[in-house]
Amino acid sequence: MEIYVSCNPFSRLIVRFLLLLYLFLNASTSVNSCMEEERRALLAFKQDLTDRSGRLSSWVGHECCRWRGISCNNRTRRVAKLDLRNTIDDEEYERSCLGGKLNPSLLALKHLSYLDLSSNKFEEVHIPSFFGQLTSLRYLNLSYASFGGEIPPSLGNLSNLNYLDLANYDVSSKNLNWLSHLSSLKYLNLGGANLTSTGVGWLHHVNMLPTLLELYLPQCQIPNLPLALQSVNFTSLLVLDLSSNDMNFSFPNWFFNLTSLVELDLRQNVLRGPFLNNSTSLRSLEHLDLSNCRLQGQLPKLVGMCELKSLNLEYNYFGAAEIQEFMSGFSNCSYNRMESLDLSACGLVGELPTSLGMLKRLQHLDLSRNSFWGSIPESIGNLSSLKRLDLSQTSMNGSIPESLGQLSQLVDLDLSDSETVSPCEIQWQGILTEAHFINLTSLESFKVCTKRPLSLIFNMAYDWDPPFKLHTIYIENCRVGPAFHRWLQSQTQLVDVTLRNTGIWDTIGEDWFMKISSQVHTLDLSYNQIRGKFPFQYEFPYLTNLDLSYNQFEGTFQLSLSNAPVLLTVDLSDNHLEGTIPPSICDMLLYTLSLRNNQLTGEFPQAWSFWSNINVVDVSHNNLSGYIPSSMGIPSSLKVLKMNNNNFGGEIPFSLQNCSGLTNIDLGGNKLTGKLPSWIGSKLPELQILQLRSNLLSGHIPQQLCNLRKVHILDLGCNNFSGTIPTCLNNLTSLAYGVQGPWSGYFSYSEQTTIISKGTELEYSNANLDLWILTHVTSFDLSSNNLEGEIPEEIGSLIELGSLNLSRNQLTEKIPLKIGNLTRLESLDLSHNHLSGEIPHSISFLNFLSHLNLSYNNLSGRIPTGNQLQTLDDPSIYEGNPSLCGFPLQKCSGDDMPTEQTILAEDNKDHEDDDNEKLGFYISVVLGFVIGFWGVCGTLLVKKSWMHAYFQLFDNIKDKVTLAIALKVGRLQRRY
Ligand SMILES: *[C@@H]1O[C@H](CO)[C@@H](O)[C@H](O)[C@H]1NC(C)=O
Ligand SMILES: *[C@@H]1O[C@H](CO)[C@@H](O)[C@H](O)[C@H]1NC(C)=O
Ligand SMILES: *[C@@H]1O[C@H](CO)[C@@H](O)[C@H](O)[C@H]1NC(C)=O
Repeated sequence: MEIYVSCNPFSRLIVRFLLLLYLFLNASTSVNSCMEEERRALLAFKQDLTDRSGRLSSWVGHECCRWRGISCNNRTRRVAKLDLRNTIDDEEYERSCLGGKLNPSLLALKHLSYLDLSSNKFEEVHIPSFFGQLTSLRYLNLSYASFGGEIPPSLGNLSNLNYLDLANYDVSSKNLNWLSHLSSLKYLNLGGANLTSTGVGWLHHVNMLPTLLELYLPQCQIPNLPLALQSVNFTSLLVLDLSSNDMNFSFPNWFFNLTSLVELDLRQNVLRGPFLNNSTSLRSLEHLDLSNCRLQGQLPKLVGMCELKSLNLEYNYFGAAEIQEFMSGFSNCSYNRMESLDLSACGLVGELPTSLGMLKRLQHLDLSRNSFWGSIPESIGNLSSLKRLDLSQTSMNGSIPESLGQLSQLVDLDLSDSETVSPCEIQWQGILTEAHFINLTSLESFKVCTKRPLSLIFNMAYDWDPPFKLHTIYIENCRVGPAFHRWLQSQTQLVDVTLRNTGIWDTIGEDWFMKISSQVHTLDLSYNQIRGKFPFQYEFPYLTNLDLSYNQFEGTFQLSLSNAPVLLTVDLSDNHLEGTIPPSICDMLLYTLSLRNNQLTGEFPQAWSFWSNINVVDVSHNNLSGYIPSSMGIPSSLKVLKMNNNNFGGEIPFSLQNCSGLTNIDLGGNKLTGKLPSWIGSKLPELQILQLRSNLLSGHIPQQLCNLRKVHILDLGCNNFSGTIPTCLNNLTSLAYGVQGPWSGYFSYSEQTTIISKGTELEYSNANLDLWILTHVTSFDLSSNNLEGEIPEEIGSLIELGSLNLSRNQLTEKIPLKIGNLTRLESLDLSHNHLSGEIPHSISFLNFLSHLNLSYNNLSGRIPTGNQLQTLDDPSIYEGNPSLCGFPLQKCSGDDMPTEQTILAEDNKDHEDDDNEKLGFYISVVLGFVIGFWGVCGTLLVKKSWMHAYFQLFDNIKDKVTLAIALKVGRLQRRY
């Protein structure tokens, strides 16, 4: 810089000013620059990092205090803060992670007091032990940065530390000695660290930290919580989180010294009672989470805990306790601050108390999954801050009060059973009018269902204009009335729509489909009488589940990737759809496709192999023809295949043997030819239902069929099978020892199966009752073939069998004696064969037998008597056996003609016998009823009372399914 010098005093002044300005400007640039040594240290640190998203791109030049993530001390210009936390938490997360190595050059930053490297993915296995030399640190956050291994004890040197967060899933610490030196610590989080080896010592070390305010040790595998502690030093503690440690402990007394405690989280441990009996000392507590703690006995009475804002007791079992007592605990408080109360799945019973209305600040109330009954109390209208009310999966059977309509903050109202697989159990009564909704201006999600279809009725004025715009609507089994149709049209922001069996019988209006199509995810309008054209001329970019089954939709079936790109399940069964199945259906990423009972014609698309995730295909009861696609086994994911009652010809495709997860096959009622392939027995081990009834199949029944250990319905009737019945039947484990557990897989597919039993067609379903019903039907049917030889003795092993039909074959020899072992048999048909000899007496042991047919054989001798057989008094079930005699046919010839006196005596005896027999009959009927009743309904009842245990199962299943769907959707999003 050149400065012009002059002697003029004025210009001297200017020069002085310019000089000052120069110095000032110079100084201010040095204010922004940092120490060269620290700058180089940072560059070396950057050098070793990988930074895919360019987060450190500002780390160039000299002004390192201005680099992103760096702050310097305003006075000394030394680097004080390094904040490289990854704050991205969406799908860009991975890319935004810093990785690579952590260079010890950081040690040059002598004044570093704040270091945050959390939520990144460093390649280090261990937390670098040189961090222990950064002794100026007050704040250190290394959480979720993919560290593992032993926490370096050198961290104990950081005696200025106020804040330490090391939450990571794979770190561990043998003992926490190092912790005792951190005497200024206020915040400590070791979440996820494996502290198993510290035994009870962890508490001793924590007790050396008198300044501690917040302690988080969730998922630390802490084995134990000591009952005794000599003196409690950390009495200033505000937050204590020991959740998810699965430790088994009683509430220790020293807890009650933590009088400042504001937040206590003990969820997911095993807490042995009694607990909170002395709760009067935890007066400051605002948040208490004891969910999933296997608490038993009385609901805690939280006397004196007037500051409580949130209480979570979900998943405990307060055996049939009432909520009334519990509420009285709050009545001593001059005010109450409760904002969130979760008592779900607690085994509570009784009516909801009016006193609920005193929790005036409540925003979140979850009482779901309990056995509450009765009506919602009128006082619910007092909870003017309520945002979420969940009464789902309860036994409520009363009315819904009009006062509910006053909850103007309510966003989410759940009065349904919608989370369960089984049908609605809740029994709301009465009429819903505009008053019930009048001020629900914030409502976004509304769910309601009833068990009996007419018990809850929506009755709105025709011109009613709802005050809300719903995102989710779920109505099942309620009558919505004609005006509903109009207010549905006003709901244009719907994302999840379920209106199942609601008595909508009109056309629903094509413009409504158009209004919601661009955002809807779930569309279930099943079991209505909706008329109209199949609405798929619009695009449904987000639709994943479509269920329009049991309606009157007509027109040609059209569905393709271009108008519904993320569709996963489609159920259009029981409509009037026509035309062919377009080949484009195979481009879709479907899990489930059901087109049962329509009027579809033509061939099934041959491009089947393009499906990669298909689980269920049900095209039964249509007019489809041609060959079954030979490529059908290529997507090996297939579990349920139902193509029955069509006109398919050809052989059972060979490729099907790839589908090792197949559980159900029904190809009955077609024109299939060829043999029954032996690989069905060897390659499809999961098969539970195999129905090939009414085809043109021929040849022998392969021995390998006996390998189907899980099969419980086997129907090969009405074909041309010849040869003998395999003798290995005792290997059919499910029929011999019972169906093993509930379903091995899970899909929310409402399956329907018809079996021929008791001389008629019986329809079974897992939708209308419970999935247990179908899985407990057991049937074995080889009727109307050309089978010869004897009925193998081994049939007597199938003691779980409910229905056995071998009629209309050429079977010879005697009925096996062991038939009497089939004590659960309800239907037995051996008619139209050449069976000979006597009817085994053991047949009278079959106490549940309600249908028997032995007609048209060569059976001879006396018909056995006693027990259930006495009720089967229709002579036609024995006709066509000329040598049979005895009840209900004519008496046997050997029976003497009695004299008059013996008639009298016999008469009396007869009466006694009769009475005895009647008694026997009643006993067997009652016994039958009891066993039958408990067999079927008992499972349901027991299931209800064990609901608690089951919910976790369902939850897990649900989580898995949600995860699967989330993954799927994620994948799709990436694809498009
Ligand atoms: C340094 O200055 C900035 C703004 O000039 C201010 O926000 C910050 O609090 C100051 N830091 C210290 C430690 O004084
Ligand atoms: C936790 O540490 C203990 C002892 O070091 C070890 O036996 C256990 O397997 C570890 N737990 C897990 C989940 O790694
Ligand atoms: C904390 O209490 C223990 C006894 O449990 C005692 O030995 C120790 O000195 C106390 N520590 C502090 C820092 O007060």
